[in-house]
Amino acid sequence: KEKEKNMLYSLNKEAARYYFNNLTKDKTALKYLYDRGIQDKTIRTYGLGYSNNSWDDIYTFLKSKGYSEIDIEKAGLIIKHRDGNRYYDRFRGRVMFPIIDVRGRIIGFGGRVVRDGQPKYLNSPDTTVFSKGYNLYGLNIAKKYSRDKILLVEGYMDVISLYQYGINYCVASLGTALTLNQSKLLKRYSNDIYICYDSDNAGLSAADRALDVLREENINAKVILLPTGKDPDDFIKENGRERFENLFKDSYNYLDFKINFYRKKYDLNTVEGKVSFTTDISSMLKNIKSPIELDAYVKKVSQETNISVDAIKEEINHNRDSYV
Ligand code: GTP
Ligand code: MN
Ligand code: MN
Ligand code: MN
Ligand code: MN
Repeated sequence: KEKEKNMLYSLNKEAARYYFNNLTKDKTALKYLYDRGIQDKTIRTYGLGYSNNSWDDIYTFLKSKGYSEIDIEKAGLIIKHRDGNRYYDRFRGRVMFPIIDVRGRIIGFGGRVVRDGQPKYLNSPDTTVFSKGYNLYGLNIAKKYSRDKILLVEGYMDVISLYQYGINYCVASLGTALTLNQSKLLKRYSNDIYICYDSDNAGLSAADRALDVLREENINAKVILLPTGKDPDDFIKENGRERFENLFKDSYNYLDFKINFYRKKYDLNTVEGKVSFTTDISSMLKNIKSPIELDAYVKKVSQETNISVDAIKEEINHNRDSYV
C-alpha cells in the first residue's frame, strides 16, 4: 500500500506538470484564465493547468513515462470503457486544479470546463491517496499564511481569486458538504473559522449545515453574507479587498445566523410559522450560559414573533429540564 501511494503521488506530479505545460501549448485555457483575471504568478502558485480536448492524451503521456494502465486507472485519470479493455481520459478540455494535501503532495484534481458545458466541474474519484471528505482545497497554501483565521468558501475559483487580492487564508471543501473530518482538519490550523459561501439558497443551507458540523468540533464559526447571487470571487472583483475585509466585522455568529436563516425559512406571518421558529430557536438558546446573552436573544426572538418573553423563557426552561 505504501508503495502504491508513493507511485500515485509521483504519477499525479507528472500529470500536473504536463497539464501545466499544456497551458502554453494550447492557449484556450490560458486565455480563459486571463479573461477571469487570473495572473501567471497565481497559476504557478496553485499549479493550474489544462487537459487537452482528447480521449487519450494523459493516457499516452503517462504510458510514455512508464506507468501502466492499471496505475493510471488507480489514479483516476483514465476510465475503462464500458465495452472492452479500452480506456479514455477522465479530464478532457478542462482547466485543471491540482488538489494538494498539507504535506505538499498532489492527491487529486478538479477540472473546470473552459467557458460553458456540463458538468461544470469534475473531480478525481476517491483513490488510495485521495478522500474528498478528509481534505480541503487550498489548505496547503492557507496554512502557510494563516496566523489566526481561516476562510471557508465553496469553490476552487473563490480560493484562487481571493488569494490574488491578498486574502491568502482560504480553503474550499471539495464540492461536497463540509464533513466532520474536514472540520477536525481545520481545527488543527485555526479556531477562528469564517464561512463565506455563495449567496444563494444552496449556499445558505450549506452554511447552516457547516455551522453545525464545526460546532461538533467546538469551533464557533462565523458566517459572512454576500449580496444575493454573488460568490466571493464575484464580490471581490467588483468591490476590492478592503470592502471584502469589512464584511468580517458584520459576520454572523451561530445564533445570529440561525435566527436570520430560520426567520426566512418559516412564514412568521402565520401562527404555525411563529411556533416552529420559536421552538427551533429555543432549543438552541437552552445552551447559552450567560443570563445577559440569553436575555438579549430572547428579546430578539420575541420581537420577531410577538411571542412574549415569558413564554419563550418558559419554553427554554422546559427544554432544559427534558433529558430526551
Ligand atoms: P465558477 O463558475 O468557475 O466561478 O465556479 P464556482 O466555484 O463559482 O461554481 P459553483 O458555485 O457552481 O460551485 C462551487 C463548487 O462546487 C465548485 O468549485 C466545485 O467544487 C463544485 N461544483 C460545482 N459544480 C459542480 C459539478 O457540476 N460537479 C461537481 N462534482 N462539483 C461541482
Ligand atoms: Mn453550481
Ligand atoms: Mn454555488
Ligand atoms: Mn460560486
Ligand atoms: Mn464563481
